[in-house]
Amino acid sequence: MAAAAHDRLVIAVDGPAAAGKGTLARRLASHLGLAYLDTGRIYRAVARLVLDAGSAPDDEQAAVAAAEALRPQDLERADLRDEATGEAASVVAGIPAVRTALLAFQRRFAEAPPEGAVGAVLDGRDIGTVVCPCATVKLYVTASPEERARRRHKELREAGVESIYSRVLADLIARDERDSGRSVAPLRPAADAVVLDTTSLNAEDAFQEALRHVEVRLRQRS
Ligand code: CDP
Repeated sequence: MAAAAHDRLVIAVDGPAAAGKGTLARRLASHLGLAYLDTGRIYRAVARLVLDAGSAPDDEQAAVAAAEALRPQDLERADLRDEATGEAASVVAGIPAVRTALLAFQRRFAEAPPEGAVGAVLDGRDIGTVVCPCATVKLYVTASPEERARRRHKELREAGVESIYSRVLADLIARDERDSGRSVAPLRPAADAVVLDTTSLNAEDAFQEALRHVEVRLRQRS
């Protein structure tokens, strides 16, 4: 049975590229028994559909059509994590009509999490500001661009992808600028978000720190 609105726990995890949002959000969800949605995959899947159709990611008509036609299995594709798809995702994500087309699905996930979970963790760029402005807990996870580039570079190398650190850093800075500078749902911390700078925190420390904030919030609520 779905949890009633007042006791549903929604955790918003926002932040720039490669800040460690995904690792943290997944761990919080698993620890607290909540459903998890990586909203970046939604934008990546839309971008992939646009690229596969031979269209450019800034082709508004093609991007909106892809967003409207998106099916759950598109989110399961194995080829969504590469850098070209991330780059194209940040271009389609800047088109207001694409964001509108994807909003209802994300809100439904938070409001009625699958399999009767008592709540959900969503990670992205605008969860605390636009998708779930009433989230129980809002975390804004960040780290210095150099540290984020180092992590992404390592992740790519470990996945067997050739990677040049300076290129990763430049791409990441360009993507941050696009995500923060767009007119619709720009990347920024919600006014009531807890900012978690993970530059000198490992994944375990970041998790413990985030969990502490969640527990404080839950105590305030009860
Ligand atoms: O994993 P990484 O941080 O590199 O990126 P991602 O979370 O998979 O998101 C890919 C791109 O989708 C971002 O650069 C954003 O432009 C866009 N996005 C967004 O606009 N809003 C979201 N809620 C999630 C992602």
